Amino acid sequence: MSWGGAVRFARRLNAVPPYLFAELERKIAEKRRAGVDVISLGIGDPDLPTPQPVIDALDAGARDPETHRYPTNHGSHAFREAAASFYRDRFGVELDPASEVVPALGGKEAVGHIALVLLDPGDVCLAPDPGYPPYTSGPVFADADVHYLPLEEANGFLPDLDTVPSGALERANLLFLDYPNNPTGAVVEAGYFERAVEFARANDLVVVHDNAYSELCYDGYRAPSFLETPGAKEVGVEIFSLSKGWNMTGWRSGLVAGNAEIVERYRQLKTNLDSGMFEAVQRATIAALTDARDFPREMSAVYERRRDLVAEALDAIGLQVDPPKATPYFWVRVPEGHTSASFTELVLEEAGVVVSPGPSFGPSGEGFVRLSLTVPDERLDEAARRIEVSLRSGIIPA
Ligand SMILES: Cc1ncc(COP(=O)(O)O)c(C=O)c1O
Repeated sequence: MSWGGAVRFARRLNAVPPYLFAELERKIAEKRRAGVDVISLGIGDPDLPTPQPVIDALDAGARDPETHRYPTNHGSHAFREAAASFYRDRFGVELDPASEVVPALGGKEAVGHIALVLLDPGDVCLAPDPGYPPYTSGPVFADADVHYLPLEEANGFLPDLDTVPSGALERANLLFLDYPNNPTGAVVEAGYFERAVEFARANDLVVVHDNAYSELCYDGYRAPSFLETPGAKEVGVEIFSLSKGWNMTGWRSGLVAGNAEIVERYRQLKTNLDSGMFEAVQRATIAALTDARDFPREMSAVYERRRDLVAEALDAIGLQVDPPKATPYFWVRVPEGHTSASFTELVLEEAGVVVSPGPSFGPSGEGFVRLSLTVPDERLDEAARRIEVSLRSGIIPA
């Protein structure tokens, strides 16, 4: 510290790796300062605008002085009704608006805080590997241990719950799952969530299904909610995010739904940390879930087209790809002779294209990189062309 040696920080932050995207953003800024026209396929942040009815609702809401005061952590009655009606129509799931749904300031906030709700020091959190980084940082902030569940290609990138060692299982109190999956783009197979419910019951643990991508699906696939599964509400909750389906990453809008006791505990925690979601954002979220309910289908069509474009380009340069049925992500195996890091570095240096190295999502990500489709078509085209040129010129051994 600048004012002397006596002040120290808590160790908490030292225990988590630097946040992946912070590191990527630093690298991109460095290249751009050096005059390189960098195309970033590293971050899953939609490039297209939020739908107009959502913007209009925020606009009208912000002009209404009724919204200017503290909201409640319960969320407005209208917000909870809109969420329940969306879940009923989209997933066939009945939610009690009074007790089984609560707003979240984005899915990430909910992931981190739900870990604080469910984990004590010494508890174990079962987390997918590779996985969304807050599945590690949330439990670490709770002083809990993370036991990684490898997602292997041979298993369709689903964790094999039968192989969790008994030592970890005895201390486990929380299992994170997320399908459609980030970073692998995998979708859940019929029956998998039933297995997860059974596993939770057998081992007295809670399932938190982080559903950030169910609304971005291709080829006619429609992703289920975890809450559709019989018994799901007894053992867990689902975190639903508006960020990706409605191009609302900046708005910080999501919700936690399912088991009433967990929903209430999460709400109680948050009364100590934040004062709820801005009422105008709640009204905008209602507009998304009602007036703009079909918007994610339009976005899915955009990503499906981009997915096909990238699949073709990667195929042409001999990279092994399995085009995703959902999510804006390609999980690509790096060419022979490369590590994730060396390939990421090379693509940045030679093509000015940023991809996310697989190990940033956990040790089982080694050998892969993630490409995001959240850039305009012409930039995506240009990125694919540049990678192809680098590869063809022999810089990247195919
Ligand atoms: C798996 C997963 N969960 C949650 C989120 C968080 O989304 P948000 O906080 O914007 O709702 C993301 C964002 O990338 C994600 O990939």
